[in-house]
Amino acid sequence: MSGKLKVGVLISGRGSNLKALIDACAQTDFPARVVIVISNVASAAGLNYAKQAGIPFKIVPHQEFPSREAFDAAVDTELQRASVELVCEAGFMRIHSDGFVRKWLGKVINIHPSLLPAFKGTHVHEKVIAAGVKVSGCTVHYVMPELDSGPIIARSEVPVLEGDTPESLAARVLQAEHKLYPSVLKEIAEGRVRLEGGRVVKNAV
Ligand code: GRF
Repeated sequence: MSGKLKVGVLISGRGSNLKALIDACAQTDFPARVVIVISNVASAAGLNYAKQAGIPFKIVPHQEFPSREAFDAAVDTELQRASVELVCEAGFMRIHSDGFVRKWLGKVINIHPSLLPAFKGTHVHEKVIAAGVKVSGCTVHYVMPELDSGPIIARSEVPVLEGDTPESLAARVLQAEHKLYPSVLKEIAEGRVRLEGGRVVKNAV
């Protein structure tokens, strides 16, 4: 247990990716464990996954802070208190301050429901369908100050089918997310992936 990478997960809502990470970490030989879950939304359903798994969680309501920097400082305090070594954002709907990103550079990753660099931001599946592309998917990337723009660690593709609605496409992409995020976490925890000079470096082990 002690040799496992200590992970903090940031959420704002449903938490299905948090659940995928918790489930992966529950495997005996998985090289990481979730030590804290932080939500900026008190009613986030995903907090129940932390409760069920007996993982400590904190609510840090962004609206109670005078600035982005002050909110990030409170999040940073909780992460440090839990000795977090890697932060996984999972449906976390806040943009970090530059200071937070600089401090945690190479130690914060995010999952986004498109094949980045295409379709950044929100309402991704609507945009994908409107664009008429035939392939979508999800991306795990290191977090940089600019939204959804950090170095890409891995992507997983899914088809966009005729007649897809944003909901049906979202459900297909989400299934891919639940496989991709734990597999990237495993690679990082095993020291097979890191950020170096702004680039993703992968080693064979
Ligand atoms: C996922 O689609 C993720 O890619 C995006 O927000 C959604 C969060 O879903 N960043 P959940 O809260 O993990 O269920």
